[in-house]
Amino acid sequence: MAHILGLAGSLRQASFNGWLLRAAAEVAPAGTTVEIASIHGIPLYDADAEAAEGVPPVVEALKNRIAAADALLIATPEYNNSIPGVAKNAIDWLSRPPADIVRVFANRPVAIIGATPGLGATALAQAAWLAVFRTLRMRPWFGERLMVASARNVFDAEGRLTDEAVRKKLASFIKGFAEFVDGRG
Ligand code: FNR
Repeated sequence: MAHILGLAGSLRQASFNGWLLRAAAEVAPAGTTVEIASIHGIPLYDADAEAAEGVPPVVEALKNRIAAADALLIATPEYNNSIPGVAKNAIDWLSRPPADIVRVFANRPVAIIGATPGLGATALAQAAWLAVFRTLRMRPWFGERLMVASARNVFDAEGRLTDEAVRKKLASFIKGFAEFVDGRG
């Protein structure tokens, strides 16, 4: 009965990665939920602002949602062969203060998926996330890989995942991850 929190690393309304998460929620097996959260409203990390005002309420709220979930699923775009700044900024805020890392991240199962209109399929962005997971002492799942290239051919104009092969792969990925989260995989 895995409850997975999905986070897209994009602010774009018509984000391929947001659409991929929405599809993940659709194909999740019975008993598994994928609740979609957002990084909208998270300011740029500023240590002076943190010292003066603490962690912003929008960050605290998202930290609590991650802590309440069984697992985290990140759908990452790739910018310049790495993690987009907005996504890295969000995770940097979410890791503050360090005393909260255990509550929010440590030992939490995490999986990474990604979509791009390009041909590289977010392979390098997904690899870049691994150092972050290790630093936050998370528990990444490596059972399958889900990397979507040529995303314009995979979603329709309304953001529906219309490519049956990708939908099948995504369903298998979420099932495998949920089993891992439940301690069965
Ligand atoms: C990109 N894009 C991109 N794509 C890719 O496959 N590899 C890359 O290295 C980059 N680099 C890159 C840098 C910058 C600054 C931008 C703005 C874009 C294209 C990117 O995949 C595309 O904008 C996606 O649509 C972003 O994901 P969302 O917003 O659709 O989820």
